[in-house]
This record gives sequence, C-alpha cells and structure tokens, in this order.
Amino acid sequence: MLTKKVEEFCNRQIEREGYSSNLYLAMAAWAESKGMAGMSEWLYVQADEERMHMLKFIKYVTERGGSAVVPAFKQPPVKYKGIKEMFKEVMKHEQFITGSINEVLAVAISEKDYATTSWIQWFVNEQVEEEKSVQLIIDKLELAGEAGLYFLDRDIMSLRNTAAQA
Ligand code: FEO
Repeated sequence: MLTKKVEEFCNRQIEREGYSSNLYLAMAAWAESKGMAGMSEWLYVQADEERMHMLKFIKYVTERGGSAVVPAFKQPPVKYKGIKEMFKEVMKHEQFITGSINEVLAVAISEKDYATTSWIQWFVNEQVEEEKSVQLIIDKLELAGEAGLYFLDRDIMSLRNTAAQA
C-alpha cells in the first residue's frame, strides 16, 4: 500500500508525464507545419513514449492500492521560435522531469517505501537516456546550421535508433 505522500507525488508525476506527451504533440504539429517531417516524427514518437510513462505511473499507483488521478492538462504552446530553440525547450523540460522523478524517489526513501524506490529506478535510467538523446539532437542542430537542416531532418529518426542501441 502506498503512503498518502508517495501516492500524491506519483499523481503529480502522472500529470507531468501526460503534459510532456501533450507538449511534444504540440511541438510535433508545429514542426510538421514547417515542413520538418523527420523532426515531427521524432516528436510524435516521443509523445507516445511520454504517454506510456504516464500509464506506467497510473498502473503502479493502482497496483499498490492507491487512487490514480487523470487530471486536466494545461494547453502547451502553439508556436515556437525555431527548431533549435524548440529542442532547447525539450531539454529544459526533460531536466525538469528528471528533477521531478528524483523528488518522487526522495519521498519514497523518506517514507521507507522500498518497493517504489526500486520501481522508479527504471525512470531514473530512462531520464539519463532521454537527456542524452535530446542533447545529441541539439549538438547536431548546432553543427548543421540552416543549410544542413534538410539533411538532419531527413536522418533524425536514425539518431533515435542509434541512441536506443548505445
Ligand atoms: Fe517521461 Fe521524458 O519524461
């Protein structure tokens, strides 16, 4: 059985993972409207992964005898300054999520909930991978400049596959 405090932090994370999914969907739609098919595809896939993260939390809370709350979500921004700026926003958001996961872990430890402490390690590792793959894209965008953007857009999904294998 989850303690009230762990349940509360898991529910906070349900909202944050769900918002992440919607944020990346909004970014994907914007990138698609700018003709960047590869970037938008990457973001659509990322949005699905975030939804899966939300589901993992929902199922975990339920399995541990808690009440999972599916909240209303704030509307993500519709427009972005540019593709590089947008991926920097993705990075900032992922760093925020990493901090948030660490807070769930810290609460689980303080509540002596060792099952949650162990379960959440998957997310700790996942955040390392996500930050790494977003940084890879930012590095490529810095290198590519305007002229190279077309080629990077075309090849971005192969970066996702490379990052997954690394
Ligand atoms: Fe589920 Fe990218 O944090």
